[in-house]
Amino acid sequence: MSQFFASLPADEIGSARPSQCSIDGLSVLLVRDSEGTIFAFENNCSHADKPLEKGVWNAQTREILCPFHKAVFEVAHAGRVRVGPAVVSLQVFPVQIREHNGVPTVFVGIDGSD
Ligand code: FES
Repeated sequence: MSQFFASLPADEIGSARPSQCSIDGLSVLLVRDSEGTIFAFENNCSHADKPLEKGVWNAQTREILCPFHKAVFEVAHAGRVRVGPAVVSLQVFPVQIREHNGVPTVFVGIDGSD
């Protein structure tokens, strides 16, 4: 079951490039698509455990391109691989927008062990 953690203010999430934050010890990237929807996913390419923060985010197709060996993940479709060499999906997390200290904030759901 997911536990939701506060990450960044919603208005800090853009559609040009991923925003990085640390949630419960996990490096997470936040992005916004061209319609304004926010997505969160692990800052780790499943191909060779490399960070995706310098990857290319496409806000129209909702895909992230890994900068190392050019794998492409469909963030809006559970992080599935569209282009290899990765074969394992990217871990995508549920998000909620809630008030936090009076500011609309992105809460990210991280799976717990319960
Ligand atoms: S580390 Fe991402 S494609 Fe190889």
